[in-house]
Amino acid sequence: VEDSVRVGILGCGNVGSALVTILTRDADVIAGRTGLRLEVGPVAVRSTTRERPSAVDRRLLTHDAGAVVADPSVDVIVEVIGGIEPARTLILTALKAGKPVVTANKELIANVGQELFEAAASAGVDLLFEAAVGGGIPLIRLLRESLAGERIRRVTGIVNGTTNFILTRMTEEQATYSEALAEAQQLGYAERDPTADVEGYDAGAKAAILASIAFGARVVAGDVYREGISAITAPDIAFAARLGYVVKLLAVAEQLDDGDLAVRVHPAMVPVTHPLASVRDSFNAVFIEGESVGELMLYGRGAGGMPTASAVVGDLIDAAYNLRAGGVGRTLNPAPVRLRSIDDLTSAYYLDLEVIDRPGVLAQVAGALGRHAVSIRSMEQDGLPEGGGAARVVFITHAARERDVQACLTELRSLDVVARIGTLLRVLGS
Ligand SMILES: NC(=O)c1ccc[n+]([C@@H]2O[C@H](COP(=O)([O-])OP(=O)(O)OC[C@H]3O[C@@H](n4cnc5c(N)ncnc54)[C@H](OP(=O)(O)O)[C@@H]3O)[C@@H](O)[C@H]2O)c1
Repeated sequence: VEDSVRVGILGCGNVGSALVTILTRDADVIAGRTGLRLEVGPVAVRSTTRERPSAVDRRLLTHDAGAVVADPSVDVIVEVIGGIEPARTLILTALKAGKPVVTANKELIANVGQELFEAAASAGVDLLFEAAVGGGIPLIRLLRESLAGERIRRVTGIVNGTTNFILTRMTEEQATYSEALAEAQQLGYAERDPTADVEGYDAGAKAAILASIAFGARVVAGDVYREGISAITAPDIAFAARLGYVVKLLAVAEQLDDGDLAVRVHPAMVPVTHPLASVRDSFNAVFIEGESVGELMLYGRGAGGMPTASAVVGDLIDAAYNLRAGGVGRTLNPAPVRLRSIDDLTSAYYLDLEVIDRPGVLAQVAGALGRHAVSIRSMEQDGLPEGGGAARVVFITHAARERDVQACLTELRSLDVVARIGTLLRVLGS
């Protein structure tokens, strides 16, 4: 016996139109497996005259998103408009009306998630957002359900396909940052204004969501320490390769020994032997470390209309099941948490200096490092191509505190033998 569930869709862009395509193309498969017929209901858009994929029935299009939410024939709402408003108000209205909501909106969940979770819990309906992190990778469900009882120590993700594409081009084709960015823009991986991706804002929102789910903690986008990749140079990448590392933009959420959380986004040197090092191009992956489960990694398409819509369909089926069963899946109630400042975190570092090439210089530099309890694990030296008595010295340090490393940089800047301080990168897993 089939049960029909009518889906109201807000937004019909990359994700919305892919969703309509899947629901139309795979209706029988879904019905066969689940007993649910997911019917495409009204679809809200900005422009009803714009060109749409053929699966989209024009007669279903409307300007009035509010009317889609209020439509009594609509059982479940999908929000794929993006941004905070009107998405937030539309979702709150749907939840209050007892309609489950599925959204792909990371910005919304990472900034006002708490308000939405509370509204869903008090209405007793589902609010699902698998597609908001890692696109097609079923990551949220894994963390919420399969790992619900796991003591997770750390989640480390490559969660932004644009920056991973750029870094891959810099690594494999020796492209400069601007060449790689231009290629990403040409291929449609990067926006004309790439700030949200390359400066780590997109990854920061995802890190906040990952932290909330993995640790049941209230973390918003603004809590996340953030550095992007725009300062990474071709020589940094080459040095990293020589030392056995690749540079990746990582989103890290971890629980420290005293229970504090640390959540951050920054580029890091990843050992080539680490599973995350092999995640190339625009692919995403999330590496999870848990007390009992050990290490776990998920790999896939973190963006793109179809992969993202695939995650939305999974959520829709869950929401429809629960609705028909007269219930709700797991509700979320993240608790307040103490966040550790980046200043108090320790890491090994890669430090790139340009120094005047004359006797005694290294002793001066090493002295400055030593005075700030930053100890050297390895060092490489290169004469610079233009000669002129300058040399490039690259250090990998042992684990040191961020605060100490910053103080050390301040002292190094004051030395007249130091001509330039280049990139400072954290080194993963040491
Ligand atoms: N694209 C991806 O790969 C991806 C991956 C993961 C998550 N997401 C998330 O999914 C969401 C949608 O992304 P997208 O790439 O599909 O965006 P998009 O292509 O820009 O589509 C947005 C859609 O919303 C419609 N819209 C905008 N304002 C509206 C309003 N006030 N009322 C009704 N409709 C409105 C637009 O209408 P018109 O078509 O008429 O302009 C368009 O169809 C975002 O939250 C995004 O972060 C996207």
